[in-house]
Amino acid sequence: MKLITNQTGLKGTIEVPGDKSISHRSIMFGALAEGKTRIHHFLEAEDCLSTIDVFQKLGVKIERLDSEVVVHGVGGFQGLKKPMSDLYVGNSGTTIRLLMGILAGASFDAVLTGDDSIQKRPMNRVSKPLEQMGARIETKDNAGFAPVHLHGGNQLSGIHYEMPVASAQVKSAILFAALQAGGETVIHEKEKTRNHTEEMIRLFGGEIHEEGLTVRLSGNQRFMGQEVLVPGDISSAAFFIALGLLVPDSSIRLTNVGLNPTRTGILDVVEAMGGKLTKEASTFSGTIQVETSNLRGTVIEGSLIPRLIDELPIIALLATQAEGETIIRDAEELKVKETNRIDAVAKELAKMGANITPTEDGLIIHGKTPLHGAKVTSYGDHRIGMMLQIAALLVKEGEVELEKAEAVAVSYPDFFEVIESLIG
Ligand code: S3P
Repeated sequence: MKLITNQTGLKGTIEVPGDKSISHRSIMFGALAEGKTRIHHFLEAEDCLSTIDVFQKLGVKIERLDSEVVVHGVGGFQGLKKPMSDLYVGNSGTTIRLLMGILAGASFDAVLTGDDSIQKRPMNRVSKPLEQMGARIETKDNAGFAPVHLHGGNQLSGIHYEMPVASAQVKSAILFAALQAGGETVIHEKEKTRNHTEEMIRLFGGEIHEEGLTVRLSGNQRFMGQEVLVPGDISSAAFFIALGLLVPDSSIRLTNVGLNPTRTGILDVVEAMGGKLTKEASTFSGTIQVETSNLRGTVIEGSLIPRLIDELPIIALLATQAEGETIIRDAEELKVKETNRIDAVAKELAKMGANITPTEDGLIIHGKTPLHGAKVTSYGDHRIGMMLQIAALLVKEGEVELEKAEAVAVSYPDFFEVIESLIG
């Protein structure tokens, strides 16, 4: 697909689609609750539709209406039904990993699988702790990859678990298993990761204790159906934050953006880079306004990384246009995302003229490099595809041709139309 290039003066107000992490979890908790859950501003994108499809296969009635999704809860883990076929999650890591936790204590067997990217992503980080809780799980050739075969009929017990990686997906899978287990589970994180599962447990009437890096909960809890209002996804807003900061003479307003502090690392980075960004926050969401800015390089590391892990590709683009050097470190998790994002960012932006050195755990980006036309690929990774479209807007000469552009539908199906509307 030929991308839009060479823009100035982009101005407008955008409401980004619903948060992907919260949309997945609202289907999951809605399915496990008693009664109906109504979800407003649900993310109608491929990943979350995979979650709906999988739960329908598990016997949950889910209606997709015009402005909401209605989930008819089955009243607990034991209400889920044995699926008639393998459960296919497409490209969605959140679906497969959280589902492993949800089905860890099921009375039936289930096979979970997904697309080529999913089959290359590590699943043993989830199966190992679940096995310690009493689940029986086989991965393909015992190598830790999907397809994952969950054997039914196991009694789970709570664990005390030191997380070896900073991953909300792993933490959430353990929390779902813990909700079916006897006794207490205590999870200690290396770094604080997004806490949407913890928040949803509380929203649906359950009990969980979060104290610093420690989360504690007991099994046998009951959930009641809720009205869920999904805020806009800050990870989708990030592309338009970058557009507003980088495209000359631009001004972009983003409304109803989710501002959970475990997700707002990008706002801290923009501030450190000297970007003109203002935020008006209410309790869970707010409005973000950005203007074209002269940025400076920064260092991104440590506890900041999980708070912006999905934004690192677009932050790398910001850094290519900043004064001086930007260093991203402690981000080896980028290698096991939808694609190896350290390699993908370095290779594709280098094709457009950027000066980026990939490292074992991040990137070193030399700023103030003009970008030029090139033939690039998303590698089938939605966030790489969207980052490359924002990069293309800065290209003055030549064309940018993006292979596998359709990947953006994983989290933002009308992304290209929204860019066009800013130009229109
Ligand atoms: C997610 C957690 C993160 C993130 C992913 C969504 C979630 O993955 O990258 O896009 O909804 O829990 P990890 O837990 O693997 O870091």
